[in-house]
Order: sequence, then C-alpha cells, then structure tokens
Amino acid sequence: MDYKSRTKVSRILIDDAVAVGTNVVILGWVRTVRSSKEIAFLEVNDGSSMKNIQGVIQNPDTFPVLQHVTTGASIRLEGTLVASAGKGQKYEIAVSKIDVVGPADDSYLLQKKRHSMEFLREIAHLRPRTNTFGAVNRIRSKMAYAIHSYFQERGFYYIHTPIISTSDCEGAGNLFHVSSLDFEHVPHKEGRIDWDADFFAAEAYLTVSGQLEAELVATALGDVYTFGPTFRAENSNTSRHAAEFWMIEPEMAWAELDDNMDLAEDFLKYLFRYALEKCTEEMDFFGQWIDKEVRATLEGVVGAKFERLPYTEAVSVLEKFGETFQYPVSWGLDLQSEHERFLTEKIFKKPVILYDYPAKIKAFYMRMNDDGKTVRAMDVLVPKVGEIIGGSQREERYDVLLQRMQQMGIRNVESYQWYFDIRKYGTVPHSGFGLGFERALMYITGMGNIRDVIPFPRVPRWAKF
Ligand code: 4AD
Repeated sequence: MDYKSRTKVSRILIDDAVAVGTNVVILGWVRTVRSSKEIAFLEVNDGSSMKNIQGVIQNPDTFPVLQHVTTGASIRLEGTLVASAGKGQKYEIAVSKIDVVGPADDSYLLQKKRHSMEFLREIAHLRPRTNTFGAVNRIRSKMAYAIHSYFQERGFYYIHTPIISTSDCEGAGNLFHVSSLDFEHVPHKEGRIDWDADFFAAEAYLTVSGQLEAELVATALGDVYTFGPTFRAENSNTSRHAAEFWMIEPEMAWAELDDNMDLAEDFLKYLFRYALEKCTEEMDFFGQWIDKEVRATLEGVVGAKFERLPYTEAVSVLEKFGETFQYPVSWGLDLQSEHERFLTEKIFKKPVILYDYPAKIKAFYMRMNDDGKTVRAMDVLVPKVGEIIGGSQREERYDVLLQRMQQMGIRNVESYQWYFDIRKYGTVPHSGFGLGFERALMYITGMGNIRDVIPFPRVPRWAKF
C-alpha cells in the first residue's frame, strides 16, 4: 500500500497549506463513525495535532469495507479536500477509497466516552490516543525543544551526565541500586555485601541528579546544562513525586546565588511564555477541559516579579500569620508543601524564591554563609505545585567543603576526590539549579497528577509498560 503520499492532518487543518480540490491520502485512527443509508461520516485522528479530519462517504452501501471501519481501527483514506458545509471544521474529505490497515473490534477500550484519569493510567498503552494525552505528549515534546532553545540561545552547552553513578548527590539515601550480582547468591566479605565483586567494583546507583558531574564540566566550559532522567526511590505516594523523572540542571561558573535566582526566574518565564505563545492548540485544550485558570496562572507568573525571601524571614512571616498547619512551623524545619503553598498562594500570591536555608536540612555541596548556620540554597515555589526548582551556590572552598562533608557523616568522603579536585585546581564560585520537568509540565497544563504528564510513569509499586 502507498503510505508515502500521505498528508498530515495538521498541514490541512492547522497550517492551512493544502488547497481545496487536492487529492489527499490520510493515515490515521478512527475516532468515530456515523452512518445512515445515504451518507457516512468518519472522524480520523493522525496524531499530528488535536484536530480530527472528517471523511464524508456518499452511498455507504457501495463501500463494503465500512463494516470494518470501527472506532480504534487504523485506516488509509483517499479523497478530495473540499470546503466543509458542517460546523466546527473548515475542510473535509470527500472519500473515494478506504483501506482498513489494522482493524479494532468492540473490545477497544477507548469508545467515545470520558474516562477517569485513574482508569487511563491502567491502560497507558492506549491513553496516548486520547485527546488529553495527545495534548500532553505533544506539549511535552514542544517544551523539551523550548528548554534546549533557551540554553542554546544563551551560550550554554548541553552535556550528558551519567545515568549510572557511584555517588549520592543529594545525600538523601533514596537510591536505586545498579548491580549485575546474582541476587540468589550475593557475595559477602566480612559480613557485608562485597561490592568489589560487582560489575563496577563499587556500589552503584541510578543517578538522583547530574549536578556533581555538571559542576566538573562547568569549570571547563563555563555555562552548561543537563537534561535527562533522574531516579529517586522515595516511597512517597504523592501526586508530585515520581521515581523516574526528568530534570533540567544548568550550572554556571563565575556565578553567585543572585545570578542563579535571575536565571531561574528568567528561565521559568521564558518557558511559560513559550507555552502560551507557541502551544496555543494544547493550551486551549487544557484551558477548556483541565483547568479553566491555567492561562491566567501562567500569565500571572510571566508578569510577576518573583518575591525573594530568606528562609528565616519566611518562617517569621508564617509564624505571624498564625495559621494552623499539620506540621507546626519553626526555624530549622524543612518546610512542607502546606507551608510552601501558603507562602505563594495566600501570602504573596506569586512565585517566591526562598534562600539561605539552615545548613542542617540541605545537601553537603551548598556554600556555607558567614553565620555558619545557613547555606546559599534556593527553592523556587509556585502557587498550586509548591517547589518547582531547587538549587544553590556551590561550596567552592576546599577546606570548608571537606569539613562539612565530615560533619554530615558522608560515607567514603575519599571517594569524592574528583569533586574536591576542582576546588583544588582553579576553583571558581559557581551555581546551578534543577527544574523538575514534570513539575513544570503540571504547572503549564494544569494536570493535577505527575503520573499524567509523563507517558509511562514509575511510582511505588508501578513500573508497568
Ligand atoms: O531540589 P532537588 O532535589 O535538587 C537537586 O537534585 C539538585 N541537585 C539540583 C541542582 O542544583 N542541580 O530537585 C530539583 C527539582 C525539584 O525542585 C523538583 O522540581 C524535582 O527536581 N523533583 C522531583 N520531581 C518529580 N518527582 C520527584 N521525586 C522529584 N524530586 C525532585
């Protein structure tokens, strides 16, 4: 069969690039079929956009193949592009030939009715064919492109950091092991697992962040970024946590915390503006079906000057408001989502960048302030989602870093020699942050659950498909 001469539906209905009267071939999946004695209408979607093209068939009796043209079937349609008399579409196809490429019987689960998000997660192999997941997957692709554009246009180099790692960047311990050991016969030495006998002759994990390696390359190339999958074995079954998620991590040499905040604010605004201006079809869909406020929310962020507030002040502001939280707030506490959301949604009503957090609750690599109690950390909080970015100015002083790692009881400090070395040879102030791609997509789309902005989510007890 000739598939090569196909025209994508987006060329017809979005780009308006095909003239009426042209003979076209459409390859797609049937969404609906309506048929009477005189006429039949097919709605076909080919994935190139949200829009279905309508095929119109006169004298359906003369097309015996129509009995196999059912919802879910893949078909090849040939016909003439004509102006549509019907409401809702500009063009339709006067069909001259139909071929069923792959039939679908009535056990196909996506018959025309609305399904719950929970049900669609169970059928993640089919949900890409729904309008919602079509829009999510397309905007995900467009936003990935926007991310690369943002950094490339500003002279940042894209670097690939390893997925297999032997260090725990965040020090939080929620790591997935990578091993080729025979789990039935794990080798032991002096009562402990003998990692020396494993593939890498060391305990290895799926990375929780590309940051440490990004720091190494930033001290050679200047401005770099990574954009790749990261993994966390956090057993938190929330709507905002996934075990596998994608993170964008810029790292800049010669940059301090305020430069980092400027970059984070500018980057988020660029992404949201990009979605509003360049992803109009998807944004219209999300605004109509997922969250009526979504455009206004993004416009609000684009137009706002982010509030910048030291952690210590944020705690006093929260205490002053006297709100009853599930976790009472006090200095030294790692702020919970309820506190973060109260700050952005109720108090400031815009994004907030909190900085200078207590050293005790933050990772080893953050630069110590002169007070000896706080570090140059920053979290960007946005209404509805809470923390969307986490970052810091890094500790570039060899001795201070060593002392802090020892104080924090980091195991195998000696195995981080490579990390210390860049502090030993030509150290520079440097800073960076991580944006969770899925958190950003939740914000952009208004989708309420992280499981619904990644095609095949991995969460506790779920790695199907
Ligand atoms: O604050 P985090 O843990 O920061 C880091 O990993 C740093 N190494 C980044 C850096 O400075 N280069 O994570 C950064 C962001 C969070 O703000 C959040 O958006 C996202 O990653 N994130 C998650 N997203 C989905 N599921 C999870 N389990 C996430 N954990 C973090």
